[in-house]
Amino acid sequence: MGAKLFVVFNLLFFFIFPVLGAAVEALQTYIVQLHRHEVTAGSEAMFASKLHWHLSFLEKSVPWEREKQPSSRLLYSYHTVFDGFAAQLTGEEAAALLELPGVASVRADRRVELHTTYSYKFLGLNFCPSGAWARSGFGGGTIIGELELVYAADGTREEEYCIKGSLSAAAVAGKMVVCDRGITGRADKGEAVKEAGGAAMILSNSEINQQEDSVDVHVLPATLIGYREAVELKKYISSTQRPVARIVFGGTRIGRARAPAVALFSARGPSMTNPSVLKPDVIAPGVNIIAAWPGSLGPSGLEDDARRSNFTVLSGTSMACPHVSGIAALIKSAHPSWNPAMIRSAIMTTADVTDRQGKPIMDGDGAKADLFAMGAGHVNPARAVDPGLVYDIDPADYVTHLCTLGYTHTQIFKIAHSGVNCSAVLQRNGGFSLNYPSISVAFKKGVTSAALQRTVTNVGTPNSTYTAQVAAPPSVKVRVSPTTLTFSEFGEKKSFRVSVDAATPAARDNAEGYLVWKQSGGQGKRRVRSPIAVTWVVE
Ligand SMILES: *[C@@H]1O[C@H](CO)[C@@H](O)[C@H](O)[C@H]1NC(C)=O
Ligand SMILES: *[C@@H]1O[C@H](CO)[C@@H](O)[C@H](O)[C@H]1NC(C)=O
Ligand SMILES: *[C@@H]1O[C@H](CO)[C@@H](O)[C@H](O)[C@H]1NC(C)=O
Repeated sequence: MGAKLFVVFNLLFFFIFPVLGAAVEALQTYIVQLHRHEVTAGSEAMFASKLHWHLSFLEKSVPWEREKQPSSRLLYSYHTVFDGFAAQLTGEEAAALLELPGVASVRADRRVELHTTYSYKFLGLNFCPSGAWARSGFGGGTIIGELELVYAADGTREEEYCIKGSLSAAAVAGKMVVCDRGITGRADKGEAVKEAGGAAMILSNSEINQQEDSVDVHVLPATLIGYREAVELKKYISSTQRPVARIVFGGTRIGRARAPAVALFSARGPSMTNPSVLKPDVIAPGVNIIAAWPGSLGPSGLEDDARRSNFTVLSGTSMACPHVSGIAALIKSAHPSWNPAMIRSAIMTTADVTDRQGKPIMDGDGAKADLFAMGAGHVNPARAVDPGLVYDIDPADYVTHLCTLGYTHTQIFKIAHSGVNCSAVLQRNGGFSLNYPSISVAFKKGVTSAALQRTVTNVGTPNSTYTAQVAAPPSVKVRVSPTTLTFSEFGEKKSFRVSVDAATPAARDNAEGYLVWKQSGGQGKRRVRSPIAVTWVVE
């Protein structure tokens, strides 16, 4: 307690100086990045610690006449992702700092406004201030007056798809044009309509797109309709001489649709090169996400779009990945000693397999999403920070795994940057299976059974017992042994075997089930879930 009070006292003194100094000349926060390995007169090796090294830059750039204690300007010293520090400086001092050898960059810290959408809350993270959604710009709706309506149903294929140069100005000028999805980009179609003098556009989903939603930035007023509505709309257009339509902004509605659901465009497993590891691992928000956008390009991505915005709406793995990376960072902050395999395990074994309505997660085509669409399920950060048990993997295990897949010495060298003798490795590790958090068995013709080993590490409560609950895939027998794992210490490891027996011929080429380790009674309610995928490989 005494020590703590002392520190607080010291800090008070530490910070009073800059506050007084600020009255004379405005100080601003700057982030300074240093060259990590550059050997210069002032390089890291010459100092007792990184902190001393970082402070030496302040001593050289903040004049003694202005600041008796340059170290008091330091706000934070960065050691992990990059070397550098944050400090309170005048513009002049920042410029002086940039001139010093070893300084890579000096950037003024700036306040970034939250432009978030719903995915934070959707993921169960409630720390974003309420009202962020309202500020995110979705409220700017438009009502377009009635516009007469054209669809080139008896025209060419190019016209139906609104391909550039195919639309005649006489037919579309001042009208709302219906364009089928496909062949060209969605924003490109809008541009083609605008160039031909069209006033607005209705993008209509084709049979392939079904009811898939896509929020796009267009160069003219536009909306998108599902395949069902597209069929109705075209019936209407052909039923009347003067079809009319208007686009009405119906307001932002949250929580109406079944979500999460797997997007139709999402990549599917199994991994053809390695069916012994289930892919994908997990799914995460990646549809219609507000994302940062470069200043060199308009928000529609079209070359002629002269508008500029720091954000646009995008979909894809590039949008899902930052969500998962963020969750990995949260887990790493909560458990700094965890390695990537433990973090992946935590994310996978705690993922949700039901949607917000408590029903199975659906695929874009309206069927229940299978393991090859969603892997272990939809990420759940609140649970992932406390998984109870994790499936850890030693880096050497990956090399052994590559040996089991038949990779050559040269191929493994390219990945591991070290030589390996696979025959020796496989001799030492008979019956090896990678300690992956999901279970995937690929049966070749004539093979009907497999045995796998898994090891879990207790990262929950020291004294805890877990019991196996297995849902075997149809026509497959799955046996887990032992069925109870008892831990008395934190960090303790326990192994178990999983035998998979598929003697009865399967009706399909794959089947799915799951294994859950459920924590017993009063100790907690942790559930450690692994999907089980069985594939019959057709050669
Ligand atoms: C984008 O961000 C930069 C840096 O904050 C700002 O100067 C610029 O005005 C922004 N552009 C738009 C279009 O908001
Ligand atoms: C690889 O290991 C096997 C088995 O231990 C051994 O017979 C063989 O000589 C080794 N090959 C090389 C190139 O070291
Ligand atoms: C775990 O159980 C053992 C044996 O019952 C007991 O001695 C120990 O104190 C328990 N540890 C914790 C952290 O509860």
